[in-house]
Amino acid sequence: MTRKVVLAYSGGLDTSVAIRWLQEERGYEVVALTIDLGNEKDLRTVESRAMEIGAVKAIVRDGKQPFIDYFAFPALMAGAVYEGQYLLATAIGRPLIAKMLVDVAREEGATAIAHGCTGKGNDQVRFDVSTQALAPDLEIVAPVREHRMSRDEQIEWAAERGVPVPATKESPYSTDENLWGRSIEAGVLEDPWAAPPEDVYAWTRSVADAPDAPREVEIGFEHGRPATLDGHEMDGVTLVQTLNQWAGEHGIGRTDLVEDRLIGIKSREIYEAPAAWTLHAAHEALEQLTLSKPQLRTKNSLRQEYADLIYNGLWFTAHHQDLAAYVQSTQRHVTGTVRMRLHKGQAVAVGKKSPRSLYSYQLATYDRGDQYDHNSALGFIKIWGLPVQQQARSQLLADGEQPFQLGTPEPQGDKGA
Ligand code: ARG
Repeated sequence: MTRKVVLAYSGGLDTSVAIRWLQEERGYEVVALTIDLGNEKDLRTVESRAMEIGAVKAIVRDGKQPFIDYFAFPALMAGAVYEGQYLLATAIGRPLIAKMLVDVAREEGATAIAHGCTGKGNDQVRFDVSTQALAPDLEIVAPVREHRMSRDEQIEWAAERGVPVPATKESPYSTDENLWGRSIEAGVLEDPWAAPPEDVYAWTRSVADAPDAPREVEIGFEHGRPATLDGHEMDGVTLVQTLNQWAGEHGIGRTDLVEDRLIGIKSREIYEAPAAWTLHAAHEALEQLTLSKPQLRTKNSLRQEYADLIYNGLWFTAHHQDLAAYVQSTQRHVTGTVRMRLHKGQAVAVGKKSPRSLYSYQLATYDRGDQYDHNSALGFIKIWGLPVQQQARSQLLADGEQPFQLGTPEPQGDKGA
């Protein structure tokens, strides 16, 4: 019996060649699986292309809802940002694709999964490690990483065999996209001194072309999850799609990052993530109202760790489960509405309210109606300053010393000895 492999099939050159390569070089029957994470493509054409090339079966699955609910929104709640500028769109998509590959492998009785990653990026790590976590018994094949043919060599290889590969014009860039964001690399971008040409962007207007009038949008959250736009309840997918349009119009969500890949090299990447940046800013604003100071601090100290584990392909780990449990617990009162102003490349929270707000007008106000107990402040300061006063008396000011001079502070030695 011929062994089966499930290939993550995008319809592009690499994975089209991979269908034939897996058959010819490895003797597999190929099941092509195309997963829609919101990267609008003509999925029916992709499906029929896989069959034309020789797949035994072509499957198209919609992963948009699980992508948003179980990957994007949890990353949002965690405040996960890689190296200050990357909201991890591709990085959170990979473990879901791996999960769906494994599911189909089980349904189809396949013994292997395959993907089209090269040996130079993070994505191979994410696919391989995620698959190893979910199904350690499955073999993993990465045709491009193994044959190492260039684009032209692949076209030639396909032509010799009569493989109908897509005849798309070669883009000067390498791009990837899903609902959470779009990434662009290669071409002139490989020179970090070169400003990104306007044609790298597809989702966002330039600030110069953005409307002069700002747009305000109210984003409602329930337990940390975006749930409404301008008061209308919306499923996560529609909400993110809508916000990508609205915020993209105003030029929001472009970043330009020389980032550190897990495999040891720095690379220059341009990102567009209009909805994701708007939601992060809104979510953060709501947390200011609804989380206590130590909750904010602790959560903040975990953001980096969370982003790294996503970036580094460690989604399906116990460490992630532990962090996610903490984050989820912090979100139980993160419910409320944030008014975002979208204008000229910026998404700014200009108003926020919550039924669970920790902000109290009566306590904060300087106007009449102030209920803060000013006398208690006196007592509090007395106790708070007690050890400071004590140390000043018995050490710092002892022997008539003047330790607090203006200018560069210098450590004072123990001259009393
Ligand atoms: N550098 C980003 C990451 O590692 C984006 C990668 C995009 N992937 C791609 N195959 N073009 O997540």
